[in-house]
Amino acid sequence: MSIKSTNISTIEHRVEKDARWRANGHRGGVLWFTGLSGAGKTTLALELEQALFVKGWQAYVLDGDNVRHGLSSDLAFSPADRTENIRRIGEVAGLFADAGFLVLTAFISPYRADRDMARNAATDAFHEVYIEADVETCEERDPKGLYVKARRGEIPEFTGISAPYEVPENPELVIDTAALDVPQSLAKLLGYVESNFAIDG
Ligand code: ADX
Repeated sequence: MSIKSTNISTIEHRVEKDARWRANGHRGGVLWFTGLSGAGKTTLALELEQALFVKGWQAYVLDGDNVRHGLSSDLAFSPADRTENIRRIGEVAGLFADAGFLVLTAFISPYRADRDMARNAATDAFHEVYIEADVETCEERDPKGLYVKARRGEIPEFTGISAPYEVPENPELVIDTAALDVPQSLAKLLGYVESNFAIDG
């Protein structure tokens, strides 16, 4: 990406990050869900968002299908467009985290380099969560009927069928949705979030 913004300065907030965290009772951060379409990213992100909200947490889901209606509506699914999609989300998620939110992002984000770019945008507040389910499992579920269409050749560059997915090498957390059901997956996620983002007292 070429940088065209020039003559810009950096402003300092007067509210300290710690003060936001104390007010919320938890740290801000990004839980970056990655995995194939149909792996369960959105389902689990929404379950987790609701469970955290009930506990009084500031949590918010950014989801691929929703963001592609707005912020990324000019992007398709070529490698370059996916990279730009993830760059935008990575920056937005970093801002949300800075604002004290726990952001739950649900994007296929098939390229390691793109996920690393998102990690850099949020620095140490970034936790990669691999929502693991192999393509056979996702194709069996096919909640949106997209695998059927992709097999018929009606969707070009479909992840797992005609476009690649690069499995995370060192994710902070793995949720195997072929082995765990939704309540079990949610319990694992909640445990992880509690131990990594909660603030005592
Ligand atoms: S990403 O690759 O750029 O991270 P993103 O998560 O935003 O993808 O969008 C994925 C969603 O777009 C899928 O859940 C599916 O509903 C839809 N979609 C449409 N075309 C494709 C495609 N070619 N590959 C993957 N998903 C697609």
